[in-house]
Amino acid sequence: MNDYKYENIIKKAKEIVNSHIVREKETGEFLYTCPNHKNYPHQWLWDSSFHSIIWSYLDIDKAKKELLTVVKKQYDNGMLPHMSYWRKAPSLLGKISDWFFANKEGDRSHITQPPVIAQAAEIVYNKSKDIDWLKKIIVPLIDYFNWLDSDRDYDNDGLVSIIHPWESGMDMLPCWDVYFKAKRVKTIRAGLWLNRLLKKYKKVNWNMGKIIELDKFLVKDVSFNVIYILGLQSLSKLCAVLKKDEEKIYLDRANRGIKSLEDKCWDSNTAFYFDLYSTEDIKIEEFTVSGLFPIVLEVEKSRAKLLIENHILNEKEFWPAYPIPSVSIKSEKFNPKKSLLLWRGPTWVNTNWYLIKGLKKQGYQTEANELIDKSLKMVDKQGFWEYYNPLTGSGKGARNLTWSTIVIDMIYKLKE
Ligand code: GLC
Repeated sequence: MNDYKYENIIKKAKEIVNSHIVREKETGEFLYTCPNHKNYPHQWLWDSSFHSIIWSYLDIDKAKKELLTVVKKQYDNGMLPHMSYWRKAPSLLGKISDWFFANKEGDRSHITQPPVIAQAAEIVYNKSKDIDWLKKIIVPLIDYFNWLDSDRDYDNDGLVSIIHPWESGMDMLPCWDVYFKAKRVKTIRAGLWLNRLLKKYKKVNWNMGKIIELDKFLVKDVSFNVIYILGLQSLSKLCAVLKKDEEKIYLDRANRGIKSLEDKCWDSNTAFYFDLYSTEDIKIEEFTVSGLFPIVLEVEKSRAKLLIENHILNEKEFWPAYPIPSVSIKSEKFNPKKSLLLWRGPTWVNTNWYLIKGLKKQGYQTEANELIDKSLKMVDKQGFWEYYNPLTGSGKGARNLTWSTIVIDMIYKLKE
């Protein structure tokens, strides 16, 4: 029996997203939900995509506007920035960090983030059936996904590469240590390394050919690619609604991506999907939440089963009291506690949201429900935090972080 009430969680979630709206009232130029006023004042690409899914239950108009605001900062070549600076960061440290990431104009960052946006657009369209909105949003979406294909799939295998750790959305995941190369990962040194990468890229004018040659960070990240493939599938469906010819192109790209994930990332010795680095596609043998994402796709059933039963549902790896940790408990790098080095152990609600879909897709309904229940328990007891200790469930990082309210999607789906 649950000891929490759905209604209370929904009420609190509503309060949080409402108090994080940032908008230009007079001109209506922008409206977005910031993840957290103090720590994350800007508009973030994958956060805003999650927010629009959350808003689709609460206020469909805001859901539509949030995505239209994201695409206002699209680059001419189609790239969507991971951060759009609609206002100045409140702290000096924030201003310095923004400067490092910024483009020449200083109004947005020069890296991207997981392309959740197409999936979010599909959800918002299905709820609103607003064809005029769809006609507007589809153009920047197509440009973005074409940019991902032309700029980031440099060897044409259907998988895209990220060029900076923060593009993964999982800032300091142990996978990146192959490039960071420090014996012990310390906050200041990591910060300097992240900024050094940006400086190098600015020097070569963000030219992808030169960035590949530099090989300072070139990773085919599993979770980024799974989200990319899901995005291509959504885009294909949206093109079909508008009777656009591209429908087939995106589906073919998605299928090519799945094939390469299977051929290149799957490791039969460990029954895990690993990220690949460098132009030689070398496997990064770290056990992190990223490698679990393929269960959301149409991957080989026998592999999904091994991944779920050997790793995900294993109490010694990814199934502690409050799953799913960002790093396997058995990894020596697992740190469940609060740290400025994000994504090295704690549980995040947005990745749970994906893996719940994955468990359901692979026929593990009971386990999916258990993960929903655990996620709801965490937010009910602790409130909406940036991340949670997987062993104790205690909330850490930024308080009232907006994407953790995506649990309302879990609740509404249960009710459906
Ligand atoms: C952290 C997360 C990143 C997120 C951002 C804003 O940096 O690692 O994924 O987009 O916060 O919430």
